[in-house]
Amino acid sequence: MGTAQRLSDAAVRKLRTGKDWLRFVVQQFDKTGAAHGQGFLNAEQEAETLLAHALGLPWEALKQGLKQSMPEPAAAKMRHLVERRLFDKEPTAYLTGEAWLGGLHFRVDRRVIIPRSYFVEIIPEQLPLWLPDSPKVLRIADACTGSGCLAVLLAKQFPDAKIDATDLSADALEVARLNVADHGLSERIHLHHTDTLKGLKGPYDLILCNPPYEPEALLKALPAEFHKEPSLALVSGKDGLDVIRKLLAQASKLLAPHGILVVEIGGLHDAIIKTWPELEVTWLPTADGSDCVFLVSGAALRRGLTKRAAQAKPRVRPGSPSTKVGKGRVR
Ligand SMILES: C[S@@+](CC[C@H](N)C(=O)[O-])C[C@H]1O[C@@H](n2cnc3c(N)ncnc32)[C@H](O)[C@@H]1O
Repeated sequence: MGTAQRLSDAAVRKLRTGKDWLRFVVQQFDKTGAAHGQGFLNAEQEAETLLAHALGLPWEALKQGLKQSMPEPAAAKMRHLVERRLFDKEPTAYLTGEAWLGGLHFRVDRRVIIPRSYFVEIIPEQLPLWLPDSPKVLRIADACTGSGCLAVLLAKQFPDAKIDATDLSADALEVARLNVADHGLSERIHLHHTDTLKGLKGPYDLILCNPPYEPEALLKALPAEFHKEPSLALVSGKDGLDVIRKLLAQASKLLAPHGILVVEIGGLHDAIIKTWPELEVTWLPTADGSDCVFLVSGAALRRGLTKRAAQAKPRVRPGSPSTKVGKGRVR
């Protein structure tokens, strides 16, 4: 896609050093209403990442180069990147072809969502506390793996684990395959092209999932940058719960009795409680205090789903004892 709108030559001529470019790009981000939620915390981080890429420097080495004047090829590259970012709304991670999560490097392109998950906190800080008595060789499933980033973080956190990672997108799995190989984990992470957990063989000690969870109607309201990501990675039916429904049903059959399921659910906290009132979930704390990841044990999952099924479809045969207490009161 071409860049219809462009930076003015006059403005660009004034930019001599990397520092000038950073200041300018941050102002332009503000002016054009850029959204920074795709793997960056703010405009500064994103501008630095574009500049480091244009200069061919690792991000940590950028500070040294800031005061020197920008070589012409790097300035031309930076201008192109910034125009693509500002006016085509191409996310920075797709422009650089890389993203970082939990200090690890991942290849990304338009075939996968850009990694940004609360599991980056939860995998190292909380999961080991929930799996203390598990067997040495953990069996883990990462449903909806995308770039494979969470499967890789899990494999690093639990060095003896064997991991099955799934995705419905064959394109995403190609990227995941590259990342798994980059991290030397092809022996331990097995990729499966399937719907949620379909066809996997349990029992698993841990099932983790960062599914798509936006309700269809919400997609339109997302900033333009997010429309560059695969919609399959973002949207999950009318109420956002389509994949989560499948996940709960499938996980209930695949989790070991001591096993746990952990799911990131974005803004669906109230919807989860309303839809599965019987499910005894624990909301895991995150640094920003949002209740957006829940944990449920295999036993509680099976209990919760059985109760819900019983309430949703009371099967009362005429003449059976429960007809005496009224329809629907079935334990
Ligand atoms: C929110 S992304 C998460 C990707 C990755 N785990 C991460 O945290 O960056 C959701 C992923 O689920 C995949 N997906 C969507 N529906 C699916 C389904 N029914 N079964 C398996 N994967 C699905 C999408 O292709 C996408 O890669």
